[in-house]
Amino acid sequence: MERTKTGISGFDKMFTDGIPAQGTMLISGSPGSGKTIFCLQSLIEGAKNNEKGLYISFEQDAEELIHQAERFGWDVNTLQKKGSLVFHSFSVDEIGHDIIFRVKELIKKSGASRVVIDSITTLNVLAGGFDGERPTQEAQLRYFTYKFIGGIKQLGALVLLPNQLSGDEWMEKDSVAEFAVDCIVVLKFLGAAGESSRTISIKKARQTEFDENIHPMEIGKEGIKVLEAEKIDFKFK
Ligand SMILES: Nc1ncnc2c1ncn2[C@@H]1O[C@H](COP(=O)(O)OP(=O)(O)OP(=O)(O)O)[C@@H](O)[C@H]1O
Ligand SMILES: [Mg+2]
Repeated sequence: MERTKTGISGFDKMFTDGIPAQGTMLISGSPGSGKTIFCLQSLIEGAKNNEKGLYISFEQDAEELIHQAERFGWDVNTLQKKGSLVFHSFSVDEIGHDIIFRVKELIKKSGASRVVIDSITTLNVLAGGFDGERPTQEAQLRYFTYKFIGGIKQLGALVLLPNQLSGDEWMEKDSVAEFAVDCIVVLKFLGAAGESSRTISIKKARQTEFDENIHPMEIGKEGIKVLEAEKIDFKFK
């Protein structure tokens, strides 16, 4: 299996043999946990290494994403001019029942090897009326999610899928998307100042050995940095 690196400092070495270069990776986290920044940084690092990146957003327009990236000093302009980085935004009103087809076409045409679809959660609003009705709402959502994730997986790129979780949802039932994807990264923001206020962990990675620790994470001047897991010494008396 071909392997790759995101280029995010400290994250790549959480995977023993590297990250599968193709497949779907869910980036799950609460609002403000850093999903969009994580994805932007992965695309930009990839683009610097001649891996073409495509950022599809249903949440923010391209200008806003570019401004966010530039605040970290990332040279988006040059990468865009070279054609190694492309942004495409859809407004929520533009999301119709042909969205799976449109997203797939966009990815195919771009020739991108690294893609972000921000976010899978927004797309789920469509599940209700998508391609017939299943007996229950849950079955309908499951069908839509598998159809979407299965479809983009065939395109041979590494696809990052931000997934919106509400603050304490990670304690609850696993979402359909979590079963459908190849890999799950969980970002948490505890909302308080302090060393471990932000954390990152890997919940699943098919065919891949990974570090099971929860690592502290920082969003600093140069973007996301993953730190070493803190060792906890248990003392038995
Ligand atoms: N230049 C910066 N320096 C440090 N921290 C920043 C900077 N820009 C943003 N942040 C932090 O990152 C957070 C936003 O990150 P991001 O947009 O990636 O979150 P998200 O998980 O995508 O949120 P949402 O679910 O709302 O889309 C902000 O709330 C802020 O705490
Ligand atoms: Mg976001």
